[in-house]
Order: sequence, then structure tokens, then C-alpha cells
Amino acid sequence: MKLTLEIWRQDDAKDKGRFKTYELENVSDHMSFLEMLDVLNQDLIKNGEEPVAFDHDCREAICGTCGFVINGVAHGQVKRNTVCQLHMRNFKDGDHLVLEPWRSTAFPVVRDLIVDRSAFERIQRAGGYISARTGSAPDANATLIPKSEAEAAMDFAECIGCGACVASCPNGAAMLFVGARIAHLGFLPQGQPEREERAQAMVSSMEREGFGACTNFTSCEATCPKGISIIGIAKMNKDYSKAKLFGGGKLGGK
Ligand code: SF4
Ligand code: FES
Repeated sequence: MKLTLEIWRQDDAKDKGRFKTYELENVSDHMSFLEMLDVLNQDLIKNGEEPVAFDHDCREAICGTCGFVINGVAHGQVKRNTVCQLHMRNFKDGDHLVLEPWRSTAFPVVRDLIVDRSAFERIQRAGGYISARTGSAPDANATLIPKSEAEAAMDFAECIGCGACVASCPNGAAMLFVGARIAHLGFLPQGQPEREERAQAMVSSMEREGFGACTNFTSCEATCPKGISIIGIAKMNKDYSKAKLFGGGKLGGK
């Protein structure tokens, strides 16, 4: 198939950036989307032009490294999918595709389709963990967890930190990501002792990083490749309210 690709090109965070249009022929529907961009880049290099920079690592929808906007949708039109698992069989001959980086003040563009998501790491470091020494693996039945709660924790643990939720939100909110981290630990017994402290520390970090606030558009949930539920945001708000009422503790002070 033949495609027209309109791709955002930007040298660095200071550059204003611009769209550039490329025509690509002989695209096989067996290719993945990133393989199609690999082919474009080979052509660009052959012609002495700079290749299009895009992030990727596992290409198996597990690491959260890939991600950009295709025709206005984070990770593209296929639901519950990352861009690395998007395949060209989902497109047709003659399609015009517009590729842009995640657009959020908290995610400055590094180059072309790559943004700096280190803000997520700083939020995680603020409190997305348990500080108790876990030691060696305990007996499987030492701490009993109801199946429904173990499953809920696993559902929230599926977040891969890709940032599509931020890119989809009109407010640039990171609440689905933070809510997923908080709900994951909040459903488990091991997460209880620092539950409110964790919420206060992570929410404070999120605010410092310049992310917006949730106003219930729910576009984050709609585009999340892992189907993370906005119930995580409700759990985050509940824990944060309790922290505000009863004090933040030591994590909140960091
Ligand atoms: S909540 Fe979903 S969209 Fe947001 S970072 Fe996690 S996996 Fe990506
Ligand atoms: S490259 Fe790892 S999730 Fe896409």
C-alpha cells in the first residue's frame, strides 16, 4: 500500500517544530507500525536526511517506552493497544496519517516523536513503593489476600507508564497513571501502612511536575492501552483526602 505520512519534526525542546510530509510506497500489511517507520528511516538515511526519532524498546506492549499520536489518537485507533503492537493491516492504501508526539507541558519534546517522561519517574520515586524490607519470599499462604482484591491489584499493576493518558487528557492530567500506582499497592496488605502517606507524596509530586487536574473527561481510560480504570483515580482521591485530614507522614515530607 501507499501512505502519506505527515510527521512532526522538531530538533529539540527549544525548536518550534513543524510537520513534514513523506510519501511511502510498498508498505506491506504484515509490517508493524514501527517497522513501517524503520523503512521510512532507511529511505531518509539513504537520501542524506535525518531519520524520524521515535521511542521504542520491547515492541511487545510491556515496557511502556513507545507512544505517539496517530491521527489525533494516542497509540492509534485500535483500542487497548500500544503503537508497537499496531500493525499495518489496520490501514488501507492511500491513507493519510498524521504523527505527533505526546503534547503536554510536563512532557517536553526531546526530538520529533520522543518526549521526556522522566516526570513519571520522579512521581514514582516520591512514594510508589513500600519501604518495609521484604526479605526472602514468604510462604505463599502467610498473608491471605481475597482473590477479588488480588485481581484488582494486578489490574492496576498492568500500567506500563507510557503516558498516553496524559496525552489524551485535555488538562494534561497524570491522574490515571498515579491512581494506578496508588490503587495497585492500596489493594494489597503490604501497601496499607503507608497508604495515605503514599497518596500525599505522589499527588504533591504530580502537582510539582506541572500536570493538570482531572475533570472527568475519561479520555485517559478510553485510550489507555492496558484498560486501566478511572476507579484508580477515585481511590487516589480517597487516600489523598484521608492524608489531608490526618497528616501526610514521612513519605509526604520528602
Ligand atoms: S494508565 Fe494507561 S495510559 Fe496511563 S501510563 Fe499507565 S498504561 Fe499508559
Ligand atoms: S516498545 Fe515496549 S511497550 Fe511499546
